[in-house]
Amino acid sequence: MRPNAAFVLQIKETTVTTTPRITVDPAIVEQYLMTMAQFGAHGETGVWRTVYDPQWVAAANQYVAWCQDAGLETRRDAVGNIWGKLTGSEGGKSIVSGSHIDTQRPGGRYDGILGALGALIAIRTLKEQFGQPKRTLEALAFCEEEGSRFPGAAFWGSRAITGAIAPDDPAQTRSYADETVVDAMQAIGLDPSRILEAKRDDIDAFIELHIEQGPILEQAGLSVGVVEGITGIRHYVVQLTGDANHAGAFPMDLRRDPMAGAAEIISGVISTAHRMGRPAVTTCGRMTVDPNGPAIVPRQVTFTVDARHPDPAQRRLLYSRHEALIAEVAARRNLDVSWYLTHDLQPIICDPGIVSLIEDAAREQGVPCMTMTSGAVHDTQRMSEISRVAMIFVQSKDGRSHTPDEFSSIAHCTAGIEVLAAALYKLAY
Ligand code: HGY
Ligand code: MN
Ligand code: MN
Repeated sequence: MRPNAAFVLQIKETTVTTTPRITVDPAIVEQYLMTMAQFGAHGETGVWRTVYDPQWVAAANQYVAWCQDAGLETRRDAVGNIWGKLTGSEGGKSIVSGSHIDTQRPGGRYDGILGALGALIAIRTLKEQFGQPKRTLEALAFCEEEGSRFPGAAFWGSRAITGAIAPDDPAQTRSYADETVVDAMQAIGLDPSRILEAKRDDIDAFIELHIEQGPILEQAGLSVGVVEGITGIRHYVVQLTGDANHAGAFPMDLRRDPMAGAAEIISGVISTAHRMGRPAVTTCGRMTVDPNGPAIVPRQVTFTVDARHPDPAQRRLLYSRHEALIAEVAARRNLDVSWYLTHDLQPIICDPGIVSLIEDAAREQGVPCMTMTSGAVHDTQRMSEISRVAMIFVQSKDGRSHTPDEFSSIAHCTAGIEVLAAALYKLAY
């Protein structure tokens, strides 16, 4: 008897989507994470590893060595992103997973590096358990995401891959210590004139595994989340200039005091985000004061405003309120003001097909999960310009991140890598 069409369809779906149990060895996850944590170890649990510094070079070399150990075809591109490829029998565009190997100053042991290592471990595990895939799989360590050495170079790795680095950028992008990216690249043998060669147009899907960096998964009692959308961000650098003067002899009413202006603006922008409510967030995390002395009204104060919202209209409103406040305070206090952006990223919606594929993968691996929005920004945002994308989050202890106190248990990390491996299996085998 011929089965009816609906029955055939059901059988086909079941056959195609069910993944076998994929077991990732937690000992390897721990060994890889703790080995990488030594490169740039800062205090007990912190890591300070900025792009192209000696600790970064050591971490990159270690990543290359592990890719080679896993039998992956390994290469470094023009900006120092590392690719470990497992070629598929059917060729075609690649399925890629990875994250960044640089950190905040200082950051923790998990932000970024978990996803770079997770991709490598997932692909290595798939190769060991199932052999050659049909589609090509690639593990990727982005050279830079945080902007922690060169504030204007945030997303340097994914910008190179998507062709978003302008020819002048390497010479014009300066570090906090006033080095150029050109000098930093040349010092470790990379040639900035070849950056365009890092561009890829043959990536079909990109999945980034990352720690959540917030408290949602812990509150929900889940190891893993699937990211449906990523917030938008702007980094403003605001400069207020007045007159340096004596702190005792110069009357208050005659001062042009940029510190007073900065204090009012910082308090105001933070209150604005508070009043708008979740998920609006605004942070002022860096300030330089010139001169920087207790008995001098400063001449100039420069500070950052990091403002984020995942909804495009609310994001515009947040920014316009911040900009209006900066202008109003500066004018009222008779200060010269200027500001520029070091980054400006649109919010994105992840590919619904890959999001549901990851949810299926998690269910089939017996890992309960939820969908969520990312309040942190990620290389995935850039990769969405050239590829279908989604992300997998792993629970963060107490939601802590961008601090040496950042922690995710090996059990949660391993569960995330198993879900990633299952998703890659569904896409590539
Ligand atoms: O700031 C961010 O969201 C990212 O971790 N760099
Ligand atoms: Mn980060
Ligand atoms: Mn990160």
